[in-house]
Amino acid sequence: MNWSMWIRQAHRWLSIIFTLAVVANFTAMGLVGEPPMWVVYSPLPPLFLMLLTGLYMFVLPYTRKGRGKA
Ligand code: HEM
Repeated sequence: MNWSMWIRQAHRWLSIIFTLAVVANFTAMGLVGEPPMWVVYSPLPPLFLMLLTGLYMFVLPYTRKGRGKA
């Protein structure tokens, strides 16, 4: 697996982790009202990593390396 495929896979799996963290927030809100702080902030680390991997994928088609490859 080459580097950009690896980044794309990381972005995919981070999206699942991020989604679960958001769902956990709404579930906790339903159960206990205000969720604990660590639950409230838990989507932020995966979101930050998604921003980096997502921006990498965004610029890839404009670079020589990413052009012409799926
Ligand atoms: C934080 C900022 C984000 C940026 C800058 C970003 C950017 C991108 C880019 C450029 C692609 C590739 C599109 C292409 O195929 O040309 C992509 C794919 C994708 N993004 Fe994001 N994204 C972000 C956040 C998210 C979030 C929050 C989710 C879902 C929770 C998400 C889910 C996905 C998925 C599932 C793909 C397809 C991956 C694949 O092809 O296997 N992204 N994103």
